[in-house]
Amino acid sequence: MQRRGEPREDLEHHIMERTIEFSNILALLKREIGERRRSEEALRRSRDELERRVEERTAELARANEALQAEIAERKQMEEALRRSGEELERRVVERTEDLLKTVELLRREIVERQRLEEAGEAAERELEAQRALSVRSDRLRSLGEMAAGIAHELNQPLTGVRGMAEYLMIALDRKWDLSEEKVKDRLRLIVEQADRMSHIIEHVRTFSRGAGRSERYPVQINDVVRSAAGMLEAQFHVRGVRLVCELEEGLPEVSANPFSLEEVVLNLLINARDAVEDRLKAGGASRSLGVQVRTRLEGEGQTQGVQVEVIDEGVGIPDHLLGKVFDPFFTTKGPDRGTGLGLSISRSIVEEFGGAIQIRSAPDQGTTVTVSLPVIL
Ligand SMILES: Nc1ncnc2c1ncn2[C@@H]1O[C@H](COP(=O)(O)OP(=O)(O)OP(=O)(O)O)[C@@H](O)[C@H]1O
Ligand SMILES: [Mg+2]
Repeated sequence: MQRRGEPREDLEHHIMERTIEFSNILALLKREIGERRRSEEALRRSRDELERRVEERTAELARANEALQAEIAERKQMEEALRRSGEELERRVVERTEDLLKTVELLRREIVERQRLEEAGEAAERELEAQRALSVRSDRLRSLGEMAAGIAHELNQPLTGVRGMAEYLMIALDRKWDLSEEKVKDRLRLIVEQADRMSHIIEHVRTFSRGAGRSERYPVQINDVVRSAAGMLEAQFHVRGVRLVCELEEGLPEVSANPFSLEEVVLNLLINARDAVEDRLKAGGASRSLGVQVRTRLEGEGQTQGVQVEVIDEGVGIPDHLLGKVFDPFFTTKGPDRGTGLGLSISRSIVEEFGGAIQIRSAPDQGTTVTVSLPVIL
């Protein structure tokens, strides 16, 4: 029986051992399964994480791609716009160039036209100048003709006188007439006087021809000319009881003229004024002392600026019907021993030669004013 019991114990033991072994194995298996589950879980999580990140990255890439596409599209648009504006610019440059070429052509034509007109204008001016020179020459010839006739007429009278008196003296000597020395001297004095008159006329004519275009011009201070002329006549005025007053504006600009010719003008005007005042004094119509005033002053502005010389007298004056004649050569109201009638006509030709003008205003029995205007040197 014991024997029989012995295997049973072994079996139980064996079963026990096996059971322990099984439970160990089971515990191991359980651990293993738990372990595996955990690692499976970790694997799943990491796969999920990876998937999430892949998804995220994919989304990011998709967005970046979209942005890139948008940028590419924008850039394309810009390129297109640039290309269009480049074309537009090119078109406008071409247009503008054409416009400019047209303008240049127009300008060129205008310049040519203007040159043509200028040349035509210059030719017309030259023609006019030639005409003017011709007319001046014919004026001069005419006045020379008039003058020659005047000279002949003027010289004829004293010449006849001189010849008559010389002949008379010759006959008287031939025939041994009883002539007193006084009478002979008288006739000879008359001859000398008439010869002087002829020299006076000839001197005037020479001045006239000098005045008509041959005198040299310099910058002249008009006050110097007036002072010199007045200085020459001062004593004569004083002796005849005629006052002479100069009122000269200082700092006047210079004029382009010949000082000697201008002095001749002022002398002529002063002598005329002196004669007129003397005539009035002689006529006894004045209750006070009478005189002559010479004034200089500036007139006008800019291009038309000039200096004026005025000779103002309180003489007999000129009747209206004679006022238009006083500038005529040989017009005179003075006796043969006082005037030839050339003073004013010579004066006018001198003043006009220097680009100036001469005017006369007069009131009978009150006085006369002669105004000479000369352009200044700019
Ligand atoms: N200031 C004046 N007042 C009055 N009459 C004048 C005056 N100036 C000129 N006349 C008149 O004009 C005339 C002409 O003057 P103009 O100076 O040309 O010759 P003139 O004085 O007669 O002679 P001359 O050749 O010696 O100058 C004079 O005879 C005179 O009648
Ligand atoms: Mg005179």
